Amino acid sequence: MIIKEAFEMEGMKAISEIVGITLKKMREYVEPGMSAKELDNYGAKLLKSMGAKSAPYETYEFPGWTCICVNEEVAHGIPTADKIFKIGDLINIDVSAEKNNFWSDNGGSFVLGEDIHNHQALVNASKEILIKAIQSIKTGTLISHVGHIIETESKKLGFKVIKNLAGHGVGRSLHEDPQDILNYRDRWNKKKFKKNSTVAIETFISTKSNNTITKKDKWTLIGNRGGFTAQHEHTIVVTDSEPIILTTLNGIWD
Ligand code: CO
Ligand code: CO
Repeated sequence: MIIKEAFEMEGMKAISEIVGITLKKMREYVEPGMSAKELDNYGAKLLKSMGAKSAPYETYEFPGWTCICVNEEVAHGIPTADKIFKIGDLINIDVSAEKNNFWSDNGGSFVLGEDIHNHQALVNASKEILIKAIQSIKTGTLISHVGHIIETESKKLGFKVIKNLAGHGVGRSLHEDPQDILNYRDRWNKKKFKKNSTVAIETFISTKSNNTITKKDKWTLIGNRGGFTAQHEHTIVVTDSEPIILTTLNGIWD
């Protein structure tokens, strides 16, 4: 959406704080031995207590309130009871929600406890790349330029990008135009970021894969060539200078 009125900015700030706090608290809550379902139920309770509704459930009837991926899972992981977290797991939590008809989206990957499987470099790369990508955005920036940054920075650090997942407009629904804020440069995409638009910028940085395939559960995406993928996501407002990061309370860069 494009913010035109003060109440729209207030609405976007409010829902973004809610998804940011929920993501942060879920990350602090998770521990070895806990199931993804327990973690998801905790997230659902937080969203409800702040008057928000799960976006993936409302929009797609996703079987959970938040998306939770473990290890080889890339996105849209179902928070099931048999997904039990272990020390050293690469976990991704993605929280998106709606309140008063405003929608916001954020996510982040992290290693649970001691990094016994050496995932931290991948997680750090994804974080750093998201910072660079967001810092590059202002009114008139080519959408493909963000893809260029994500792709080249990823390559520099020895990683690949997932090409079929993308950042997107957000605000009056979970996914709205522009839907193609890709992790690589699409030279044919001439679209530019518009002033006061709200967009969700997200990385998908992978050790081996450049695409995803869908698991038999019809939701969970895994890499086409295996390996591990990290994602970090903020909802921002595009301005004539630095973007306003609406979901900063999630602490994914701390
Ligand atoms: Co998103
Ligand atoms: Co998301």
